[in-house]
Parts: sequence; structure tokens; C-alpha cells
Amino acid sequence: MDRIIIRGGNRLTGRLPISGAKNSALTLLPCALLTDEPVTLRNLPRLADVDSFGHLLNQLGVSTMVEGARPEDFGRVMTLRAGRVTSTVAPYDIVRKMRASILVLGPLLARAGEATVSLPGGCAIGNRPIDLHLKALEAFGARIEITAGYVKAIAPDGGLPGGTVTFPVVSVGATENALMAAVLANGTCILDNAAREPEIVDLCHLLIAMGAEIEGVGTDRLTVVGKPRLHGATYAVMPDRIEAGSYACAAAITGGDVDLVGARADDMQAVLAALRDAGVEVEVKRDAIRIAAAGRLRPLTLSTAPFPGFPTDMQAQFMAMLCMADGASVLTETIFENRYMHVPELARMGADISVNGRTAVVRGVPKLTGAPVMATDLRASMSLILAGLVAEGETIVNRIYHLDRGYERLEEKLQTVGADIERNNDD
Ligand code: EPZ
Repeated sequence: MDRIIIRGGNRLTGRLPISGAKNSALTLLPCALLTDEPVTLRNLPRLADVDSFGHLLNQLGVSTMVEGARPEDFGRVMTLRAGRVTSTVAPYDIVRKMRASILVLGPLLARAGEATVSLPGGCAIGNRPIDLHLKALEAFGARIEITAGYVKAIAPDGGLPGGTVTFPVVSVGATENALMAAVLANGTCILDNAAREPEIVDLCHLLIAMGAEIEGVGTDRLTVVGKPRLHGATYAVMPDRIEAGSYACAAAITGGDVDLVGARADDMQAVLAALRDAGVEVEVKRDAIRIAAAGRLRPLTLSTAPFPGFPTDMQAQFMAMLCMADGASVLTETIFENRYMHVPELARMGADISVNGRTAVVRGVPKLTGAPVMATDLRASMSLILAGLVAEGETIVNRIYHLDRGYERLEEKLQTVGADIERNNDD
């Protein structure tokens, strides 16, 4: 099984390219189901989850063609075409490996009038229910049945009549499924307390490019006037704000000076503000965001929150960085119930972290020491990489298939800015 070996201590300097956003790509791909015309996505990141999603769409009758990209290029172009939907079932063996598969529910229901998707089940960071997805589809007029581990959504003959859903909790995925169901409805759909993440804005922009009518883009109230059909479009995936934030932490923790090329500051205000509060220099340039550490990091008090708050997907990375701060930081994880799996692994490297429920106290230490550690989930894995970059000695990160789901060619990117990092196979 692949693993990553890091010998810590190098300052990272230079220019590091940021790829297309995983969490945008995974909601833009199923939009191809909403039309029989070709949809071309540019700047698609080369990630395991993107490949898995392509295979799922193939099973539903969507053709996917990847335009030739040179091996050294980051990202690629994919043209998808759902001339005819040949299946409306997303099977358990696919959904259990990639819970984002649930995002075919809305578009299949909209295009084919029905959808049957395996319940995704929980994952390492929480039980991840989909009740809000189903609440939205029911509010728009769908009938929902749950049997034998599958959810089946059925639209009345002639399509969804439309309606209003008020989300009791902000949910990115439920907002995405609701939007993709609403764009082909027979009436108007209103989403109240909708998620405002940049990935939702990216989805709205693609849907509008395909002919959808959506008001309130970027706000927590979205109004969608359904259309009889959508047409094809070509669209570039937004840059990955979490990848950029992760590498910003890499520059900060190593006392480095790195340009994050292609990163979009508007998507990252809470993360950039937190970096500045920690004493990191942040300079927004024309084509990049420069991150330069100057001296010891200052401790922080941070709570995760829906956008525009501090993103839960950056909590583990900041925890690793704050292990090197001058003093005690307090992190509170408000979104997921079990997102501290990285703590025991960081502790094996000498971190001083105590967790009480949703709150973690991170006491800065003079140094971390390299060790063999185990990746448990995507962002926890990145926190171990970050710790390895600054630790004395060698760190071996096992089970790095977690990383390959969300970080395109991670070791190559870190090598370009001077990290002593390599991938090998421990067989
Ligand atoms: C998306 O997950 C992201 N994944 C996650 O990124 C991200 O952490 C999360 O949004 C929050 O920003 C993708 O976009 C593929 P939610 P999602 O629905 O949509 C509860 C990463 O590391 N909830 O916003 O599943 C849920 O349990 C991944 O890139 C319900 O109760 O997240 C959680 O507590 C991890 N019922 C909260 O809402 C529902 O029906 C927010 O979840 C849905 C969600």
C-alpha cells in the first residue's frame, strides 16, 4: 500500500500551483445529467473521487471524454454527455466508497422523474445523514421511499411542481441536490437558509450557463424558476480554497515563503484572517496569494462555521500548524461530531492537545518528532503531512489513499517548493 515519507525541517519557498476544487467538481459533474447536450468542465482536478464519480455517471448512461492532457499538466478537461439516461440507480458498492455519489439524486429525479440511490451511511468524521436532502426534494413535490438501504425519489407525472424548503441546519450537499432538482421543476423552488459556500456559487454559475434561472446566488435564499430543459455549456471549475489553505499552513509551519498560484482570496477570507492573526504575512497578488511566515506563530481561538465562517475542512490543518505556536490555542468543531481523529496521531509526534467534546486545546511545543502515523480521513491526513514537514526526523504517513481523494499530486507540489517528501510502496 502506498505511503508518504517526509524528512522534516525544510523551509518551503517558491510557487505552488492550486488545482480545481474537489468539492466543486463533485457537484458540477452530475449537472451533465440535466441535459442531453455536452457539458465540458475545464480545470477538473485529477483526483480519485473525480474518477469514481465519472465511473458512476458512466453507469447511468453518461459518456465521459477526457481531452488529452500532458502528464505534467495539473487538471484536465472532461466532456460529459447524457444523451439518454440508461439507469436511475446508484448502487451501494459505489456509494459506500464515495458518499458524494448522493449528488446524483437531485439531477436524476429532475431529468428522469425518479432516482434510486443507496443510503451513503456514515464515515470517519460523523454519521452524515441525508435527511435534509430528502426534506428539500419532498418540499418540491417528490415522493420519497426508503427500503433495504436505498432511498427512492419519485416525481409526479410531468415533473416536480416546486415549493419552499427551509433548512434547519446549513447543508452544502442538501443545497446542491435541491438546486439540481429545482432547475427542471414545473414551478418555482425556494431554498431558505441555503448554504453559501463558494462551491454553491460555482454550481449556480454552471447551472445558469446551462440556461437555468436562479436568483440570490451567493446568499442564503435561492429562488429557482424551473425550465423545461437545459442546454450544454463549457465551464471552468473554481480553484480549490481548501487545498490553497492547506498549503498556506505548510508555508506557515515551515517558516517559508510561498506563492499559491491561482488561489482566489475572496473564497478564503476567514482562513486568511486567521493566518494573519497567527502572525503570518498574507499578500494578495494578481495571480497568487503569497504566504510568508515571520517568526513564531501566535496561538488562536477558532470555531468552525458554515461559509463565510472558518471552514471545518481547515480545522485539522490549523491544528497541526498551531502545535508550533507560542502558547495555547482553542479550536471548536461545530459542524461534524467526530473530526478530531488526527489528534492521537499528532500526539505520537509530540503534540500537546487535549480534547473535550467538540473543543480541543492545542498547546504549542518547541518541536515535533517524526514518527510512523496513520491517515484516517482526508483532512486529518493533510494535518499529518504538515506536522511531518516541520518535525525533526522522518515521518511515514500510511493509508494515503485518503489523501489522493482530495489533493492532486501532493508530493510533487510540495517537492517543487523544497519539501523532502516522497511516495513509496510499503509492500
Ligand atoms: C460538504 O459535505 C463537503 N463535501 C465536506 O468536505 C464539508 O466538510 C462539508 O460540506 C461542510 O462544509 C463535499 O462537498 C463533497 P453538510 P456535506 O451537508 O455536504 C449535517 C472534505 O473534507 N447534515 O454541509 O456532506 C451533517 O451531519 C469534505 O472535503 C444533516 O444533519 O456536508 C453535518 O453535521 C468533508 N442532514 C452538517 O449538516 C443532512 O441531510 C453539515 O453537513 C445533511 C447534513
